[in-house]
Amino acid sequence: MELREALGRRRSIRFVKPYKAVEPEKIQMMLEAARIASHWGNVQSLRAVAVFRNSAPQEVLDAIQAPVVGWQIRIAPVVLVWYVETAAVDEQSDRLRELMKAGALGFGPREKVNDALENQLIPIFDGILETMKQPGMNEIDCGQGIAQATLMAYELGLGTCCIGTPYGEQIRENLGIPGTCRVLLLQTVGYPAEDWEAGGQRPRQPFEKLFQMNGYDTPFPRSEEVVDELRKDKMFTRPAPLPDREAELDWVSKALDLDPPGLL
Ligand SMILES: Cc1cc2nc3c(=O)[nH]c(=O)nc-3n(C[C@H](O)[C@H](O)[C@H](O)COP(=O)(O)O)c2cc1C
Repeated sequence: MELREALGRRRSIRFVKPYKAVEPEKIQMMLEAARIASHWGNVQSLRAVAVFRNSAPQEVLDAIQAPVVGWQIRIAPVVLVWYVETAAVDEQSDRLRELMKAGALGFGPREKVNDALENQLIPIFDGILETMKQPGMNEIDCGQGIAQATLMAYELGLGTCCIGTPYGEQIRENLGIPGTCRVLLLQTVGYPAEDWEAGGQRPRQPFEKLFQMNGYDTPFPRSEEVVDELRKDKMFTRPAPLPDREAELDWVSKALDLDPPGLL
């Protein structure tokens, strides 16, 4: 499937088939997609524990909780606990050396450039090491990895939903994740029990409100021709709520014994 169509069809899927296990190979493919995402300085701080409901210890399953529509976690065959390893920043100079050897910085390992790397660039990075461990750029890059994993899941016929949790510290401790790490979010994974449209394209803010050109005061001009092209390529799909959404929600929540599913 083309990327544009995949972008348009990917939805947060909250209703999944609890009885249909997700193959570890497919979870691996999601993780492989996350691993090759870009990261500042090639630091690669994104990590994850994949928790399989049919094999994880009960105390691990009990620890994974979230307050907003948290029932999804109880029905999902797999929950990815995505976390950031801040200690990865400590190895940033090695990552930079690797990048240079790979020719990725626009030059190969030449003597003069090597000096600049060792005596100028790496000391600059060393100076901001602790700052870079704070929430910010690492999280952005982790988000890129999670987005790639999400698209891979979609391509494999899986439904996912990202779920924020205030219980990150508890989850971290319970899963034995080191104290240098922060839990970012939980992502449920399973085979969808609802239609791929999941009620239709969820509302988005107007394009012109979100993006500007050359300065804050000028909204980015939105070409209708471009919009039409993307619609033809199936990136834009029918807006929510679709007429049969209520009936679908009734049906799927009864099937999953979530009647009513609730917001908690
Ligand atoms: C970082 C992040 C955290 C989220 N947390 C929750 C959550 O706690 N509970 C939930 O039901 N959905 C959660 N969502 C899903 C959003 O509500 C969803 O992305 C949004 O409604 C748009 O729907 P769409 O993803 O289908 O386009 C989260 C999404 C992201 C990206």
